[in-house]
Amino acid sequence: MNIVTKMKHDWDRRAQHHTRYWIATEDYKNEAVFAESGQRTADAIVAALGPYYKKAWIGLDIGCGIGRVLKPLSFHFRQLIGVDVSAEMIMKSKTWLQGIPNVTTFETSGVDLKIFPYRHFDFVYSYVAFQHMPRPVFDRYLEEINRVLKNQGLLVFQIPIGNQPDAPMEDTIAVRFYDYHELNTKLKDRGFELIEVTKKHAGSPQGRELRHEFHQFLVAQKITTIRPDINVGWLQAECRERTSFLDTHMYLSFAENCLNQGDQEEAIHTYEQLLTHNPDSLEAWLKLATVLIDRGNIDQAVSTLTDLTHAHPNYRAAHRTLDNLLQTRQNIEPTQSPTG
Ligand SMILES: C[S@@+](CC[C@H](N)C(=O)[O-])C[C@H]1O[C@@H](n2cnc3c(N)ncnc32)[C@H](O)[C@@H]1O
Repeated sequence: MNIVTKMKHDWDRRAQHHTRYWIATEDYKNEAVFAESGQRTADAIVAALGPYYKKAWIGLDIGCGIGRVLKPLSFHFRQLIGVDVSAEMIMKSKTWLQGIPNVTTFETSGVDLKIFPYRHFDFVYSYVAFQHMPRPVFDRYLEEINRVLKNQGLLVFQIPIGNQPDAPMEDTIAVRFYDYHELNTKLKDRGFELIEVTKKHAGSPQGRELRHEFHQFLVAQKITTIRPDINVGWLQAECRERTSFLDTHMYLSFAENCLNQGDQEEAIHTYEQLLTHNPDSLEAWLKLATVLIDRGNIDQAVSTLTDLTHAHPNYRAAHRTLDNLLQTRQNIEPTQSPTG
């Protein structure tokens, strides 16, 4: 599996699990809260453009998800187009954006903007999408944005600034930080110049100052047209099947939230989903078994613990828990013989 397939596969899986959660983790609870968060991000984009803003512009959203930002931003511009690597996100965007005539969305490869001609857009924006991309993918997008932007066109984007260890290429959700000078050099090499930094938090009420630099928008202007780097061997490199720490953590916290709200069904569904692609998560196995026992689904709990002992034969605690459970079940239903 190469990086394109991996990004598509992972983001489709997340969108299928719970679209709003994987898009706006702090604002996913219901559609109204989710929509309001989109409004705030849209306001922050217009504020970041400041005196450059023109309603007549045509804009592009990279990593648009289901169109959380496209929807409120559509009132501010003539035409907007959204692209996303995930077919599932784009499919759901058709519903979320229904009835908005000046917005269109497309599934793209996740590494280029081939479907668009040269110098097509007045501005390009991206929010909480570049931060998840492997570095070479972000670099490639900068080249492509240079190509599809008109001369002097603007790029409004969010990227975490700071020094943190990088994540492996195959991790499609880890948050990647960029040292300010590294970013500046990248932009210069790809024909851009940083022109403005807004101090507004994209996800908070307008005017609130940033406490940290995580969600701020940067604005860069296309100064020159560049020749793209043709060295893209990394595109075909095989991605290892390694699980992502953040991906697992996010499933676990979603399930925990469900339990706190008394929604055991959704928690069970989430643990099961996580275990299908990360059977190494002992926490998920144990929590799943615990919820099943709590609900009195002893047979299912036995089957879960049996699967756990098969997936992790050396995990002695699982064998002990399974034995205890089998014993308890036998005591409750003495006529039934243990399965599993
Ligand atoms: C956290 S969501 C944010 C969605 C949207 N920007 C918003 O703020 O509502 C990240 C989005 O980026 C998309 N994405 C991830 N990698 C991508 C890539 N290489 N190219 C295009 N989209 C990508 C994901 O599918 C997902 O929809």
